[in-house]
Amino acid sequence: MDWGMKNRLSQLIKPNGRCMYMPIDHGYFQGPTSKLERPGETIKPIIDYADALFCTRGVLRSCINPENSKPIILRVSGGTSMVGKDLANEVLTTSIEEAIRLNASGVGLSVFIGSDYEKETLLNLSKLVDEAERYGIPVMAVTAVGREMEKRDARYLALCCRIAAELGARVVKTYWCENFDKVTNGCPVPVVMAGGPKTNSDVEVFEFVHDGMNKGAIGVNLGRNIWQNEHPVAMIRALRAIIHENATVKQASDLFHSVKNEKKK
Ligand code: 5RP
Repeated sequence: MDWGMKNRLSQLIKPNGRCMYMPIDHGYFQGPTSKLERPGETIKPIIDYADALFCTRGVLRSCINPENSKPIILRVSGGTSMVGKDLANEVLTTSIEEAIRLNASGVGLSVFIGSDYEKETLLNLSKLVDEAERYGIPVMAVTAVGREMEKRDARYLALCCRIAAELGARVVKTYWCENFDKVTNGCPVPVVMAGGPKTNSDVEVFEFVHDGMNKGAIGVNLGRNIWQNEHPVAMIRALRAIIHENATVKQASDLFHSVKNEKKK
């Protein structure tokens, strides 16, 4: 592995082998997602607790201060929307030249395995890996499930993660599921977990993140369950404790409540 690749990966995966990414890329297909209408404002109180930021070039340029920013994972796939016909029909939207100009530490794209656009999105991944590796930039593949959320079981997600790794992703982002060890055991590169839509239970989020970490994930790329929470700082600090300090679900929950109550005083 060359110096640039090692250096970028070390920005994205901390010395303890773990990571906490903050995704604010949702607007690329959802438009102004709730609580992300002004991404720069949304992340202000929480970004210090994240290890990297996942966003598009548009949000990066217009909302993120280039001085002292966290490492950036640039989303470089898109071209479809949630109101269009084929959400899965994504293309590469941003060049490697642009990723280098923006000093990205990594690039990310979605693959839609099992969809009508499986082949196209997997070829997007292969092409991106060919180009990004030339410049020492790691690729994070996002195993997107589109509208067919029922496919989120270990067998399907293990298949997606393995294929993404085989095509050259350095990190794979997927959803947590029951028997998550089947997903991580079959994937030769690090796996991070997305959060999915906001849940009504904070503890549920602590539980799945804790379970996933125990079953081989290296961290999370988790957005809505943090910044759509009424107490985003308490939430990110509790999750960070699970990821970086091996906190139990109870310890994370206690921390959540103490930070939340501190803020009220
Ligand atoms: C959107 C994404 C998001 O980065 C990913 O889903 C993580 O965010 P959340 O925790 O809100 O699901 O790739 O396409």
